[in-house]
Amino acid sequence: MIIRPRRLRRTSALRRMVRETSLAPGQLVLPLFVREGLTEPQPISSMPGVVQHSRSSLLGAVDSAAQAGLGGVMLFGIPEHKDAVGSGALDPAGILNLAIADVVAEVGDALTVMSDLCLDEFTDHGHCGLLTADGRVDNDATLEVYAEMARAHAAAGVDMVGPSGMMDGQVAVVRAALDGADHQDVSILAYSAKYASAFYGPFREAVDSSLEGDRRTYQQDAGNAVEGVREALLDVAEGADIVMVKPALGYLDVVRRVRDAVDVPVAAYNVSGEYSMVEAAAANGWIDREAAILETLTSIRRAGADVILTYWAAEAADLLR
Ligand code: PBG
Repeated sequence: MIIRPRRLRRTSALRRMVRETSLAPGQLVLPLFVREGLTEPQPISSMPGVVQHSRSSLLGAVDSAAQAGLGGVMLFGIPEHKDAVGSGALDPAGILNLAIADVVAEVGDALTVMSDLCLDEFTDHGHCGLLTADGRVDNDATLEVYAEMARAHAAAGVDMVGPSGMMDGQVAVVRAALDGADHQDVSILAYSAKYASAFYGPFREAVDSSLEGDRRTYQQDAGNAVEGVREALLDVAEGADIVMVKPALGYLDVVRRVRDAVDVPVAAYNVSGEYSMVEAAAANGWIDREAAILETLTSIRRAGADVILTYWAAEAADLLR
């Protein structure tokens, strides 16, 4: 036998030297939840270790994120009052707009400050857009609200908005709204290939979602990969600076296909259910938690993601040190 692949696996130095995939804190983005009216952080029971922040505890979290050398944070706001049109999303004194300004003032350019640009946290029906009289999600009426939301986030100082509602044309409308308000430098992380997934389950608790039913008329069907590439290409054409695939683990083939098809950075969102499955198994002693975290994130990178949104971002940065 001349060829023995095991030779390169003999020592950790050899393995380190020939490892194809890197994982670094700067590639990780930490999603953070901030809830209006809280005076102290509130645990999310379905996501052990993750909390809904108060405005002030959020600042501690972003300081640690900057300290850990993360690439950025993705902010989600949970208003005290929800209504049919998601008014809290547009109000300059709404929780997300305030939190963006707080975070930017706290960390400046030390982190990329990103915001979830979507209505589902703000609507009492829990959908990502406005509803027609007969209860369908109205694509084009929703776009007008997204445009206004983009301007509000930009006015609060955000670096990058993350339109996540899967409305057709949303990236073009957000780009035009930003440019029209003299915010040419605010970039767009497009949730391009976002699937209607059972793995968002714990997130619904995280944002006190009131959704009944599902999002299958706007989020993608789990069976479709070609369509995921189509969505990503459309978003690039509409001006997306980064395109994202979500969830990550069940869709690593889509991550790879999108990576091969576009010439902008690709992100993947390691979603709440993916997080909670590992946490639950680890809590039962069924899995080596830290090894599972690093293996999960490495796999997402190997599939082609340049950037990973993960609730483990800060901890993974520590593990990598
Ligand atoms: C929509 C949004 C969702 C998530 C991120 N942005 C929920 C949904 O589309 O149903 C899910 C994130 C996760 O599960 O971790 N604003």
